[in-house]
Amino acid sequence: MKYGARIVSTGLGVPSKRITNDDMSKIVDTNDEWISSRTGIKERKFLDTANGETVTDLCARAAESALKRAGLKATDIDLIISSTISAETVMPNNSARVMGKLGLSGVPGFDLSAACGGFIVGLHTANALIQNGSHKRVMLFGVDVLSAALNMKDRTTCVLFGDGAGCVILERTENPNIATDSMIMGSKIYTEFDSANALTIMAGGSRAPSWNTESHKENSPYIQMNGQDVFKHAVKGMVRAATELLTELKVPTSAIKWFVPHQANLRIIEMTAKYLDFPMDRVFVNIDRWANTSAATVAIALAEMEEQGKLKRGDLILSDVFGGGFNYGAALIRW
Ligand code: ACO
Repeated sequence: MKYGARIVSTGLGVPSKRITNDDMSKIVDTNDEWISSRTGIKERKFLDTANGETVTDLCARAAESALKRAGLKATDIDLIISSTISAETVMPNNSARVMGKLGLSGVPGFDLSAACGGFIVGLHTANALIQNGSHKRVMLFGVDVLSAALNMKDRTTCVLFGDGAGCVILERTENPNIATDSMIMGSKIYTEFDSANALTIMAGGSRAPSWNTESHKENSPYIQMNGQDVFKHAVKGMVRAATELLTELKVPTSAIKWFVPHQANLRIIEMTAKYLDFPMDRVFVNIDRWANTSAATVAIALAEMEEQGKLKRGDLILSDVFGGGFNYGAALIRW
C-alpha cells in the first residue's frame, strides 16, 4: 500500500443548552425512569437557537480544537467532508459554511448524507481519497442537529435525540505497515432501502418541499420511527458490518481495545456487543450525556476518548454504526 490515512487529532463541538430527562418531562408526558431504563439516556444537548447558535458554530468549535491539538492551521487542510443530514441550509452545504468560518477557500468541501451511519461513510470516503493520492489532509465532521426535526409533542421520538459535532483530522502516511502503524486499517459500508419507512424524515426534499406545507400532511417534516423495527435492523446490521470487516482483516475481537458503536440506545449497544463478544468494559458509552446525535455519535465519542486520555497510539478501535436509509458500516482504526 503506497499511502495510508491516520487520525492525527479530534475535536468536539458542544451545544450550549443542556436538557435533562426531567426537563423533557415538562414538555411531554414522560419521565426519567422510562427514558433511562429504555434507552440509557439521562440528558442531551440542544443548540441554543434563541441566541443565534448554529450547526456551523458547533463545527467551527470542533475544527478549532482539532487543529489546535494537531498544531495545524486551517490552510493545512486540503479537503473537508461533513457527514450530516442537518446542514444550516440546503445550499450552501455545511462544509462550505464551515470553510467560511475557518477562513478557508478554494479547496473542496462536500457533505455526505447517510443519517446515523454518516461518520463511517465519511471515514471510508476520506480514507479512500487519501489512499488514492488525491488528498493529504482531510477534516471530517460527524455532525447533526436533529432537534430541528423533532416533534416536541411526540414522546416516542423527541426524548431520543440530541445535537452535537465532532471532527477528526486524517493525514496521509507513506508505505504504512498495516501490522504496526497508526492508520484506518479497513472499513465496510452497506445500504439497504428502508422500504417499510421504519425511520424517516419525509418532508424537506423534492417529494414534499419545505415551502409546500400542504404536502406535509402526508409527508411529515419530523423524525418518525418504528422503534422496535429499527432496533432489530440496527443490531443485525452492526453485527454484520463488524463481523465481515474483522473476518476480512483477520483480526479477532480479543485484539481490539475499544468498541465504539453508534450511540442510539444502550440496549442496542449491549446486544451488539454481546453478539460480537465484547465485554462492556471495552465498550465506550456516552449516550447518557448526549442521547442520539446521529452522524455525530462516533466523532464525539472519539473526541471525548482522546480528551479523557483513553486512546493510546497502537490501540485497535472498532467503530460500528447504523442509521436511517438504512445505512450501516464498520471501521477498524489503529490509533
Ligand atoms: N415516555 C413514556 N412512555 C413512553 C414514551 C416516553 N418517552 N415513549 C413511548 N412510551 C410508551 C408508549 O406509548 C407505550 O405505551 P402503551 O403501552 O400504553 O401504548 C409504551 O411506552 C411502550 O412503547 P414501545 O414503543 O413499545 O416501547 P419500547 O419498549 O419498544 O421502547 C424504544 C421504545 C426505546 C424507542 C425502543 O423501541 C428502541 O430502543 N428502539 C430502538 C430505536 C432507536 O433507538 N432509535 C434511535 C434512532 S435510530 C438510530 O439511530 C439507529
